[in-house]
Amino acid sequence: MKFKGIGIDDVKVHIPNVSLSLTKTYAEAKNQDPKKFSKGLGVKRSTLPDTYEDPATMGANAALKLIEENEGVEPEKIQRIAVATESSWDRSKPISTYIAGMLEDKLGEGCLDQAGKTEHKFACIAGTQALNDTVNELAMEFGEDDYGLVIATDTAWYEKGSSGEPTQGAGAVAMLVTKNPRLVDLSVGRGRMGTDETDFLKPEQQYPNVAGKRSMNVYLVHMKGALDNFQGAIGEKVNPDDLNYTAFHIPFPKMAEKAAPLGFRNLARGTEKEEEIIDQVGEQPSREDYDTAEEFLEAEKEFEKALSKSSTYQDFYERSVKPTLRISRNTGNWYTGSVHLARVSSLLDAKMNGLDDGLMMLGSYGSGAQAEIHAEKIQPGYRDVLRFSIEDMENRIKNTYDLGWSEYQELHDHHNHAKSFSTERFTEPSGEFVFSDIGEMGERLYEYVE
Ligand code: CAA
Repeated sequence: MKFKGIGIDDVKVHIPNVSLSLTKTYAEAKNQDPKKFSKGLGVKRSTLPDTYEDPATMGANAALKLIEENEGVEPEKIQRIAVATESSWDRSKPISTYIAGMLEDKLGEGCLDQAGKTEHKFACIAGTQALNDTVNELAMEFGEDDYGLVIATDTAWYEKGSSGEPTQGAGAVAMLVTKNPRLVDLSVGRGRMGTDETDFLKPEQQYPNVAGKRSMNVYLVHMKGALDNFQGAIGEKVNPDDLNYTAFHIPFPKMAEKAAPLGFRNLARGTEKEEEIIDQVGEQPSREDYDTAEEFLEAEKEFEKALSKSSTYQDFYERSVKPTLRISRNTGNWYTGSVHLARVSSLLDAKMNGLDDGLMMLGSYGSGAQAEIHAEKIQPGYRDVLRFSIEDMENRIKNTYDLGWSEYQELHDHHNHAKSFSTERFTEPSGEFVFSDIGEMGERLYEYVE
C-alpha cells in the first residue's frame, strides 16, 4: 500500500469539565433500564461543556497543549489552521479565527498571521475533510518544516427529551500535520460514497432534525459503498488480519459495532477468512435468490447477526474494533472529533499492548451524507510521542463534575441559543481559555484563566 509521507505528527484531546451519567442520572430520571445505554447504545456517560466552555475554547485548549508540548513547533511555521465543527454560531466569521486569537494571546501577538484559517462543514466527516485538505496543501505548497493544525471540535447537543439526547457529547481533538509524521502516515487513495440525503440536518437551527432509525441505515449504506470502493482506490487487497485497528465513526459505540461486520465481510472477500465464514455461518445471501429487495435486506441482516456471533468475527472484533470504542463509551458523540478520538483510543491501546507499529483502517461518516474509508500506517516510535495513557484519559473523565439531573437541565438551557439563561458555573476553570462575554458586534470574547 502506498502512503503519502504526510500525516499526523502529534495529537491532543480536550475533554470538557462536566459530564452526565447515562446509566445512573439519565436512566433514573427517565425511568429507563441502564442497560439500554450501556448495552443498547454502548455508551455510559456524556462529557459536556460547563457554562464557560464552547467549541472554540475546547479547540483552543487542545491546540495550545499540542503546541506547548512540542517545543520545536514555532507558531510562525503553522501554515494552516483548519477547524471542523457543526456547532458553529456564525455564518461568516469562522471559528478558526477565534481559536487563532486565543492562541496568539498566549503564544505572541501576530504569530499566526500567516496561517490560512478555515472552517469545514459536512456534519461529522468534516474533521476528516479538514485533515485531507491540510495534508494535500502541505504536499503541494509547504516546506519541509512547516505545519498544519487541524482541530475537530463540537458540542453535540440534541433537543431535550429527543431520542438523540442520550448520544450527546462534547470535546475536541487537535492534530499537528507534518511531512514525515511521527504518529500515523495516511494512505494514498480512499474509498468514498456520497448521496443527497436527509438523515440528519440543522436547517437554521441549533438542534438537529434526525430521522433516528433511518439515519442508522443511511450510515450503513454509505459505509458499505465506501468500503466497496476502498480496495480499488488504493489498488491493493487488504485482509482483515492485516489490520491492527478498524475504527468507524462513533455516533454511539453500538453504531460502529453494526458497521464493523460490513467491514469484515468486505475485506474477507476472496481470502481464507471467507472460507472460515462459510464454514461457520454458511454462504452470504445473494440478491438473485430473493424476489424483493426487502427480502434480500432481511436475509442480509440475519446473515450479519450470525456472522457477528461467529468465532472468526469475534476474534477480529476483540482485537481490532473493540479498542477503538473504549474512550467514546464514556464521552458520547463528539461529531467531527469522534473518529479522531477512535484513532487516539486505538493508538493508546497499541501503546498499552507494546505494539511496535501497525496498520489501521478508518471509516468516517457525515450525515447528508458521505462516508470515506482510508488506511493509516502507525509509525515506529509513536509510543514516544503519545505522552499520555488510556488510564490518564479515563481518570480525566472520572474527574469531571458529575451533573445532577436538575443541574443538567439548567446547563442544557444555558447553552440553548434561543434562551437567555445565566447559570452559575459548576467548576472553576484553571489553566485554560474560557468564554467571557459577548462583544458590541455580537462577537464572542475569550480570556485565558491561569
Ligand atoms: N437492554 C439492552 N439493550 C436495549 C435495552 C435494554 N434494556 N433497551 C433497548 N435496547 C437496545 C435496542 O434493542 C436497540 O438495539 P438495536 O439497535 O441493536 O436493536 C438499542 O438499544 C437502541 O434502542 P432503541 O432502538 O429503542 O433506540 P431509540 O429509539 O432510543 O433511538 C437512536 C436510538 C435512533 C440511535 C437515537 O439515539 C438517535 O436518534 N440518535 C441520534 C442519531 C444517530 O446517532 N444516528 C446514527 C447514524 S447518523 C451519524 O452517525 C451522524 C451522527 O454522528 C449523528
